Amino acid sequence: MSDIKIKEAPVADKEARPILTHEKSLSQKIARGSEARDILDQQMVMLGIQLVTQLNVLIKTSRIYDRTNAALDKPIDAILTLIKTMAHDQPVTFRLQNDFLFLGDSHLKVNAQQMAVATSIIDALNAWKIGGMTFSLTVESKDLREFAALFVSLDPDNKTIEDLQKEIKARGIAGIELEDQRQLQIRKGPGTAGSMGPDGAKSADPQVQRKMNAKNGYAKIAASIGAMTQSVREGGTVSFKQAKRAIQNIVDLMADDETAVLGLTTLRCHDQYTHNHSVNVSLLSIALANRAGYPKAELADLGLAALFHDMGKSTIPIEVLNKPGEFTDDDWEAMRNHPSEGVLILSKMRGLTNLPGRMVAASFEHHMNLDFSGYPKLTVPWTISLTGRILTIADCYDAMTSSRVYRREPMSPSKVLNMTLSKSGKAFDAVLLKLFVNCVGIIPIGSLVMLETSELAVVIKPAADKANAERPYIKIITDPQGNPVDYGREVDLTEKDETGDFRHNIIRLIDNTEYKFDTSRYFV
Ligand SMILES: [Fe+2]
Ligand SMILES: [Fe+2]
Repeated sequence: MSDIKIKEAPVADKEARPILTHEKSLSQKIARGSEARDILDQQMVMLGIQLVTQLNVLIKTSRIYDRTNAALDKPIDAILTLIKTMAHDQPVTFRLQNDFLFLGDSHLKVNAQQMAVATSIIDALNAWKIGGMTFSLTVESKDLREFAALFVSLDPDNKTIEDLQKEIKARGIAGIELEDQRQLQIRKGPGTAGSMGPDGAKSADPQVQRKMNAKNGYAKIAASIGAMTQSVREGGTVSFKQAKRAIQNIVDLMADDETAVLGLTTLRCHDQYTHNHSVNVSLLSIALANRAGYPKAELADLGLAALFHDMGKSTIPIEVLNKPGEFTDDDWEAMRNHPSEGVLILSKMRGLTNLPGRMVAASFEHHMNLDFSGYPKLTVPWTISLTGRILTIADCYDAMTSSRVYRREPMSPSKVLNMTLSKSGKAFDAVLLKLFVNCVGIIPIGSLVMLETSELAVVIKPAADKANAERPYIKIITDPQGNPVDYGREVDLTEKDETGDFRHNIIRLIDNTEYKFDTSRYFV
């Protein structure tokens, strides 16, 4: 496929000046392990992150503009400058391993703000199965322009990395080389033979792929609930199609990997303005309904109903919803009306004829509670539907663990679970609550725990064996001194040693909200 016309770009060949220079031979003279070397390495990592950022801009811009467009000048200049700065002794090589970016051997640790950029580049490289990219000092503006154009115009779904490499050669693009992806197993330490069961034995690829799918699914659902809420606020109508398709994908994914889906709900900690609560309630409801034996064919409808459970909140002014202070009586009244308002909105929506009444029930019943201690208060006898009972649990759990709903500080998942369990048989259906606990775990997914070795770990999956429910699967994230480890072992806490004792034990739960520790990066 080479129907792309190559026009010689009238490139202004400005001399790119390094931002930071050091004597060419200097880096070789500085001993490894020395303090100066550390500083140098840190600088390289910082520059590496800048390079990733600019590459991302270049790729994104190239999707919109032709290679000759001036919009490309800025990222190209920046990339050339960075390469000139970094590629003194050897070419600059990026690697992607198990979804982590490396510059040479150094891990490019990104902070929360840089996460989106890193994810975007990782997704782009993964799509092509590119494991590494090397830039030589000889690379020029025209090479970068041509490469970016090629990268975005060929379709990785029906072309391979070899096709891309051939095309790079054919077009005379110099100074950029691609490497295949190497499949690295998550490194296993001694004594973890049984870690993660069958999943851990598989190559990283399907797991990574599933995580990617899950993450994309989450983003799509969040986008569609956002668009629908906006549209309702503006008095427009919307169709359910996009949301329904996205939810169906999640339902399919859950059949393969419930953990990947539940792990997504830990995203609640950072994103500021998407509609995480609705999406999380939808995911949690699907998982609970699945465990409760809900017909598989109806899971997507339930997920959709759950997604729109708070639609009535679109009648509450945003100023009230985001009010930092206490609610007035009027605010509370508006708040308490949202289940009924939701019924009105949903009834008017296009496409409702094809949707079961459970969608309306979800909105109407989700704050009622099993013992009718909640709202709205009814004067007629009522039986809360299964959907309503599922929703009540999922909604409550997510509202309490999330900081945005009702603007409280979030509680740690395990605290929320304790509080929820105290209302078993009262506000919550006891059987469903039990199933829910099996689903998220006694020590829920996303919890931070300390092992008796003083290592910290994140709970990634509930225990397979109910008799040992307090022994979930965990991923170790720090060494005993508290230093983060990049490829922490995944450990099954039910694993025993030769003498029949458990090999690893949790000594305490750590409140990740108190420590402001975001565990979501271990899932997505
Ligand atoms: Fe609600
Ligand atoms: Fe809610």
